[in-house]
Amino acid sequence: MRFRRPGAAPAADDAADPARGIELRGVGHRYGERVVLDGIDLTLTEARVGVVGANGSGKSTLARLLNGLVVPTEGRVLVDGLDTRTQVRAVRRRVGFVFQDPDAQIVHPTVAEDVAYGLENQGVPPGERAARVAEVLARYGLAGHADHPAHLLSGGQKQLLAIAGVLVMRPARVVFDEPTTLLDLINARRVADVIAGLEQQVVVVTHQLDLLDGFDRVLVVDGGRVVEDAAPGPAVAAYRALMALR
Ligand SMILES: Nc1ncnc2c1ncn2[C@@H]1O[C@H](COP(=O)(O)OP(=O)(O)OP(=O)(O)O)[C@@H](O)[C@H]1O
Ligand SMILES: [Mg+2]
Repeated sequence: MRFRRPGAAPAADDAADPARGIELRGVGHRYGERVVLDGIDLTLTEARVGVVGANGSGKSTLARLLNGLVVPTEGRVLVDGLDTRTQVRAVRRRVGFVFQDPDAQIVHPTVAEDVAYGLENQGVPPGERAARVAEVLARYGLAGHADHPAHLLSGGQKQLLAIAGVLVMRPARVVFDEPTTLLDLINARRVADVIAGLEQQVVVVTHQLDLLDGFDRVLVVDGGRVVEDAAPGPAVAAYRALMALR
């Protein structure tokens, strides 16, 4: 048995503990009077977590809770022990968020500038910034587009740019909200391969069920609740059965 050394302080509130993963404790969320999430208790430590469910079931709201884009109206969300309500800056550094619509994420005129933006915000020095931007653009097949206007990229390239812009900041965890819905088969596969190759913990909301092959855990959300929480096979079967009833 191990004892705390006399005088050793318990971990400070802002000390992150990556072993804890993402915790939702008694979480509910209302937009005005409308309850969109209710009674959610989860501990997400698996490398690959999927979220499926009907339109309007609460998936994006759930995803947005995970990096503090939305703060729950009930309960607490903790990332590595950090509360999204009180430590949102630290949480955002740990959890990257890729929006379904890449246009929502692309803010700078050229591809390279757009990717550099987050690093600039993080205070990364210019030399290191340039090297990291070049590396991530090469990794996602965008090196030849570095100086091109970002808004002229194709939909798939924009999606890859949005992913590159998040991953260049090396967040410990990444949440994707429907990363392939707008993409053709080739770009959808490319994004699936990118996700499969990530070292980070990944949470993916998707309607493209084959994206979940090989995932560790899939949550089925319905009417603002997690109604199934299982391996991809049984979870997707439960989702199909649920939808067949409608
Ligand atoms: N900012 C908001 N203000 C008010 N209501 C909202 C807001 N965002 C979402 N909602 C409502 O909350 C509910 C859940 O929305 P959410 O976007 O989480 O669903 P979803 O499961 O992601 O759906 P989809 O599959 O269509 O993307 C919906 O009824 C939606 O109308
Ligand atoms: Mg959504």
